Amino acid sequence: MGDSYKQPGRLRPAPENFLSEDQIKAVGAGRRDFLRKSFMAAGAAFAAPLAARASEGDPAILNLPEWTTSLGQPVATRPYGMPSKYESQLLRRESPGLTRVGGASVSFCPLQGLFGIITPSGLHFERHHQGWHDIDPSKHRLMINGSDPEFLKKPKVYTMDELMRMPSVSRIHFIECGANTGLEWGNVAVPTVQYTHGMLSCSEFTGVPLKLLLEDCGVDYKKARYILAEGADGSSMTRTIPMEMVESGEVFVAYGMNGEMLRPENGYPLRLVVPGVQGVSWVKWLRRIEVGDKPYATKDEAVHYIDLLPNGLHRQYTSIQECKSVITTPSGGQTLLDKGFYNVSGLAWSGRGKIKQVDVSFDGGINWQTARIEGPVQNKALTRFNIGWVWDGKPAILQSRAIDETGYVQPTYGQLRKVRGTKSIYHNNAIQSWKVVESGEVTNVQVL
Ligand code: MTE
Repeated sequence: MGDSYKQPGRLRPAPENFLSEDQIKAVGAGRRDFLRKSFMAAGAAFAAPLAARASEGDPAILNLPEWTTSLGQPVATRPYGMPSKYESQLLRRESPGLTRVGGASVSFCPLQGLFGIITPSGLHFERHHQGWHDIDPSKHRLMINGSDPEFLKKPKVYTMDELMRMPSVSRIHFIECGANTGLEWGNVAVPTVQYTHGMLSCSEFTGVPLKLLLEDCGVDYKKARYILAEGADGSSMTRTIPMEMVESGEVFVAYGMNGEMLRPENGYPLRLVVPGVQGVSWVKWLRRIEVGDKPYATKDEAVHYIDLLPNGLHRQYTSIQECKSVITTPSGGQTLLDKGFYNVSGLAWSGRGKIKQVDVSFDGGINWQTARIEGPVQNKALTRFNIGWVWDGKPAILQSRAIDETGYVQPTYGQLRKVRGTKSIYHNNAIQSWKVVESGEVTNVQVL
């Protein structure tokens, strides 16, 4: 990059940061013409103070601000800290019109505004099938039983106190809903990375390995080859998980997230963590684990979270989230206001292990450069990548392509559709393209 970073370009954030709710709804409905005008107005407002700074000296330096000349607020004014009021637009958001009731809906994580790999707990995406509750932990129980007494000798019921006294692990993992990017199977559908990829978050979870609990209950691994995990909410979310995953020691029952108790929206006081596997198996408000000798084919795995293939057949239990990546900045809805240097940044992840390499293209996949990976790279966790780019003011198409430690390469839309068709909902891990036009606007496009 040499000295190119010394002329950094300016970036207008995604439209949600300065559009009204009505305007956001219009984006959802496909009416985008006013967006350009909003961007131009915002761009002009942004440029004026800069010109003034150059000719008259910068008032932000010349005049002592109020925060230098007055007393600040005392400690513990906010006993639980909150983000600055200037960051109030960085929020999880619902996609307008996606579902009919908020209790069975999704809120998307604002990936475009995050740094590093950890999702702040208050911005972790949400997906509920029947709403969330703030459950009294003293009334919450985890029951472990067998579908046959032979499979598990000592069925038990654990209180939260008992679970939290057991040996624990803390691990950083991504969670991605199987339906993430699901709207884009047929064509471009939504404008920003928050909506294309925001059913994705990454946290440090703390809890007890499920293996330890099953062994405490006298499991017979030879006979019990599957578990069924069940949630305490009205949807009674139930998912089958193969016993090898549990035996590997990776699956755990978590009560902690990013150093504190789980948030109610994310399963407080107990959820299952199934690293690398689609979010639906991370059962929240976990109340029961049953061990059995075959997959359970529950409603959440027989008619939902299955892959429709081009020949009309459904594929069940494709639970692993394959290797995927996305550029989070610059990304759809943002605008490049100047030519010059941009730090292109994004996220990569794989349900099969660690990320080995991320390549970035600025010309729609003709030429690729290897991005810088920010380490240490964690197993089945988000991985941050960065690469410098000097925008010459000409049209460009930005893409990222991740490769995981198994050697699997993230596919193009063309490659994925050949195998999966265009009518699926789940498990879309295609390469994302962001088009930059001469005005600097960045939009969501698809390149085969
Ligand atoms: N567990 C229960 N009990 N009820 C639910 O509705 N939703 C599942 C899973 N676990 C769900 C659940 C789905 S589909 C996903 S993607 C993840 O939780 C979302 O987890 P989050 O809301 O913490 O992001």
